Amino acid sequence: MQFFITCTPWVESVLRKEIERIGGTNIVVSDRGILCSGSESLMAELNIWIRTGNRVYLILAEKRTRTFDELFDTTGAIDWRKYIPKDAPIIVDAVSVKSELESVPAIQKTIKKAIVTKITGDRESLLREDDKVLWIHIFALIRENTLLLLLDTSGEPLHKRGYRTEALEAPIKETLAAALVMLSGWRYKEPFLDPFCGSGTIAIEAAMIARNIAPGLTRNFAGEYFPWYDAEYFKQAKEQAKTKIMTERTYAITGSDTDSEAVRIAKDNAKRAGVADTVSFLKKDFKEYISEYLSGALVSNPPYGIRLKDYDLDLLYKDISIVFTKNTSLFGGIITSYDFGKYTRPNLWKNRKLYNGNELCYFYSKKFEAKV
Ligand SMILES: C[S@@+](CC[C@H](N)C(=O)[O-])C[C@H]1O[C@@H](n2cnc3c(N)ncnc32)[C@H](O)[C@@H]1O
Repeated sequence: MQFFITCTPWVESVLRKEIERIGGTNIVVSDRGILCSGSESLMAELNIWIRTGNRVYLILAEKRTRTFDELFDTTGAIDWRKYIPKDAPIIVDAVSVKSELESVPAIQKTIKKAIVTKITGDRESLLREDDKVLWIHIFALIRENTLLLLLDTSGEPLHKRGYRTEALEAPIKETLAAALVMLSGWRYKEPFLDPFCGSGTIAIEAAMIARNIAPGLTRNFAGEYFPWYDAEYFKQAKEQAKTKIMTERTYAITGSDTDSEAVRIAKDNAKRAGVADTVSFLKKDFKEYISEYLSGALVSNPPYGIRLKDYDLDLLYKDISIVFTKNTSLFGGIITSYDFGKYTRPNLWKNRKLYNGNELCYFYSKKFEAKV
């Protein structure tokens, strides 16, 4: 089987490492995602273990496609009766990049028409988009006139691990939080701190990574309900993942925030993620760290820009730079759209573009940035 795993821009190198570890082969990094191959069980393993990708798609077709006739023929050549169970609604999404077929609505319409033609007229009623319960999600990605016709095997995107049922304003996605932890170079033995923890996402992801808890262990995936796919693969992969959880080591993972409601939510989220005994959360102002000795990794998503009312932003970022400069063995970094670069020395710091949601940010990281 061949898979295409999507991710946000600039996370590809981290995701690639993950796919290698999980067992994907013939890995090709491409724009907006990574291609790989593997046996049938890999579909379940990728979904259950990937921390930094958005969705795992099965590749149904990969073909040069310049015209709507070609798109219709390539789509029509697929055995849709196998992939679309009776009465299941379908959703067709499309993206076109630097290609002759530009109109996304026309691409979607052509694909739907080809599917309906294939599975006979009496199934036309299947093509409703309001019922999301049993839906089959098809994604057409056309880049430089090459079509990737994809079947979504994840369902809900992978950042929805299931533990963050509560969050305050501006939580970072679980997938991005995991990528930051991996990029920070933290290797679990040293202390780990998120001093602007909000709903606790970064510290919780750090705890899950340290304890090798599979991010998809307690959730369900679309692939589990495909009639043509053996759901046992998911069951087995989850059972096996349970046996891989590290229970013996202790860790020093902390999240703190000035907002006591955030601390309460972070604690509850940690409980749901199964790491309440691995990470501690406390109410604390960042200023208090200035007079303390810190070592290990600091990875955080401090407040920035428009959402801040009561703080002097420049002072806050100056304080962050002081904490990093004073504690020479402190590494890690911060993700922000604030110009933190003015406080960092280029020989000691790297910055890496990343999207936090739709917002272009930088991950400013000090030393030991993982070579990924
Ligand atoms: C962008 S949010 C962090 C969101 C978090 N990554 C999450 O996933 O929920 C920034 C957080 O910094 C906290 N904060 C602002 N000023 C602070 C300060 N001086 N010390 C500690 N926390 C502060 C806010 O209460 C807010 O929760």
